[in-house]
Amino acid sequence: EFVSEIKGLDEIEEILKRELHYKRVIIVPGDLDEDPNVKSELGRAAAKYVAGILRKGDIIALTGGSTIRDFVDSFPKKDEYGDLTIVPARGSMGKDIEIQSNTLVASLAEKLGASYRLLNVPDNMSERTLEAVLEESEIREVVSTIKKANVIILGIGRADVMAKRRGLGPEDINNLITLGARGEAFGTYFARNGKIVKKAAAVGLSIDDSLKVKDLVAVSGGTSKGDAIAAVRFAGENAVLVTDEGAAREIIKAL
Ligand code: F6P
Repeated sequence: EFVSEIKGLDEIEEILKRELHYKRVIIVPGDLDEDPNVKSELGRAAAKYVAGILRKGDIIALTGGSTIRDFVDSFPKKDEYGDLTIVPARGSMGKDIEIQSNTLVASLAEKLGASYRLLNVPDNMSERTLEAVLEESEIREVVSTIKKANVIILGIGRADVMAKRRGLGPEDINNLITLGARGEAFGTYFARNGKIVKKAAAVGLSIDDSLKVKDLVAVSGGTSKGDAIAAVRFAGENAVLVTDEGAAREIIKAL
């Protein structure tokens, strides 16, 4: 471990790029578990990267979560993005309105003077309910816009934390942990080396859609999330990871 301690961030970016299969990795110094300023820095780094890749007419899908909230908060207020459309990647869940994707979508769109669409359905429905909901023409129309997203900005969480936040019972959480679940993204739970152990049925984008978009930007940091970030893998050639030093050093250990 001494060796990884002395590695510079540039070097770690290269290792993570290669090992986790990202086209680019951006690491901000520090550990957001220890220092809340690092969380804002992470949001700022992600916002800066995304501002550089947006093109006229892009449809941008956001997931929820506190990290994506920081990304939205850090995004520079500009009106040159008027022809963008912002959409939530999936439905919403839980009671914490401030970090729900719909809320983040509206707030980013307002900052940019962009158009936006909201998806007013829960994220954790049964297959049967899901089918019924998709028969509603208004929802179908929003979902078809979401499916056309060509940029996705998403958070990555710990499997245990996210299972709780998604309201799974103790038995289901235990099952996930027994299956080796470590990381969660898009409602999909990953065990080591990107092995998918559970995919939640949902309206909107799934891990499979992530392959097709122009840009997929994952934003997640903190030592406590290193293990989770190391487990999640995106199979496409389009994924970028924006993380912090705390997570990055932990990921190296988890590899
Ligand atoms: O619930 C949306 C989501 O993006 C999850 O897929 C992810 O695991 C989580 O939020 C990350 O949340 P936070 O940034 O608050 O840790």
